[in-house]
Amino acid sequence: MEITKDLSCVMTIFGGTGDLAHRKLIPAIYNLLHENMLPENFAVVAVGRRDLSHEEYRDSIYQSIQKFSRLKIDNDLWNVLRNKIYYSKFSFDDNLGYSKLNEFLKALDKEYHTNGNRMYYLAVAPEYFEVIVDKLNNHNMVDTREGFKRVVIEKPFGRDLKSAQYLNKKITEVFSEDNTYRIDHYLGKEMIQNIMIIRFANSIFEPIWNNKYIDNIQITAIETVGVENRGGYYEKAGALRDMVQNHMLQLLTLTAMEPPPSLKTEHIRDEKVKVLQSLEKLTPEFIKSNVVRGQYGAGSIEGKVVPAYRNEANVSPESKVETFAALKMHVQNFRWAGVPFYIRSGKRLDRKSTEITVQFKELPNILYFKENKELQPNLLTIKVNPMEGVVFQFNGKEPGSRNNILPLQMDFCQNCEFESNTPEAYERLLYDVMKGDPTLFTRWDEVEYSWKFVDSILEAWKSEENSFPNYEAGSNGPREAELLLSRDNRKWWNIESNSFCARK
Ligand code: BG6
Repeated sequence: MEITKDLSCVMTIFGGTGDLAHRKLIPAIYNLLHENMLPENFAVVAVGRRDLSHEEYRDSIYQSIQKFSRLKIDNDLWNVLRNKIYYSKFSFDDNLGYSKLNEFLKALDKEYHTNGNRMYYLAVAPEYFEVIVDKLNNHNMVDTREGFKRVVIEKPFGRDLKSAQYLNKKITEVFSEDNTYRIDHYLGKEMIQNIMIIRFANSIFEPIWNNKYIDNIQITAIETVGVENRGGYYEKAGALRDMVQNHMLQLLTLTAMEPPPSLKTEHIRDEKVKVLQSLEKLTPEFIKSNVVRGQYGAGSIEGKVVPAYRNEANVSPESKVETFAALKMHVQNFRWAGVPFYIRSGKRLDRKSTEITVQFKELPNILYFKENKELQPNLLTIKVNPMEGVVFQFNGKEPGSRNNILPLQMDFCQNCEFESNTPEAYERLLYDVMKGDPTLFTRWDEVEYSWKFVDSILEAWKSEENSFPNYEAGSNGPREAELLLSRDNRKWWNIESNSFCARK
């Protein structure tokens, strides 16, 4: 795939007054400008249904950048960006709105010399994806003879395999796969991009990255927040659709994939797809005992009393929707046969952390392993969020004359080393869309295989009753999630490196 050098474009954000635009997209654009990565020939048109003038929209955006940008706002830079931001009011099914928008985009194209390049960002609820793409097509706004036309689609991409296939058909009737950027913001995170580098740029890891040396792999993405103001969306999603189908399976593919023949986009994506193709099919019996779901009840987090999920805004008081999911799964190939992957994700837990822990096998039961039953295993933890870094746990001698053995940790704290402020995922991802590099976006077959896997769980859950709520807000989740591992004589690891704590 050709990666363009010409980054100039006009970006249209459908859903310009929404949370995502205010919290993530426009602050990311500001940060790109700050880092000198935004092309000079660039403008943004935010489309929304609220009645706002360009000036009013710019003012509201200024507040958001102040609040949400990782970099402090510099008024000179803001003035540069301010004049590149426009607002257009219309509802997503209004034909006249698209005609006017098209004329406006053409005028901006001339003013900003953007060579007809356009990025359409759909930061809207999924029910609008189809109508917007359709209208863009009907109004001749997707013609690639003059400049690129790329569409960026937020998740959720469908709510099961069937709806995802339908949606994909509708989108690819208008935009080719090359021009379709399915966002998974986890792929824009620094440490996620680092997984491949840690694995394939170090001679010590790759030779032992297999079932001969690895006992199990744990992938965790847990949060302290509840559903916040997204009850309406979450009631139709749940943890499995919201986190596992996309972010968690993406983390799994990067952790388990074979080294690609090159770093070309399609080579990397091909290897990720192979992992998804190798996932062991889950039978209803397996799901019953190896997939755990939970929903939070009331509790307290950081000293603050918080309501049960069922008492959140826009949530049914009898909701059966899961806010926690944990499962055991297997990648059935020569590298991973016999190594369980444990995955867990949930809201309103006792801490916020995304991390991947690789637990290595023990040595034979001789020498120290024979004498000391309490020896800890070697662990490699990749901390993704909020702390970024890598911790390696190994055994060493406790100073003194008793010959005691202690688990010790070597850690690399990326946040400490590079003074935090690593770019936000959306900065990297928007930049990549402008550049025409889809490596960090999900290809259709990745989405398709992920849904196939998740659908089997959703199907099995339909015929099983649950007794929610089954964990307290602020706890570490349902008891069954602990049992999932203790039954296998394992436990969830939570490596808190000393320097991570001290230097945070
Ligand atoms: C989003 C989910 O994709 O990821 C949210 O829809 C979740 O429910 C969020 O809170 C977590 O992202 P991060 O970057 O904070 O780990």
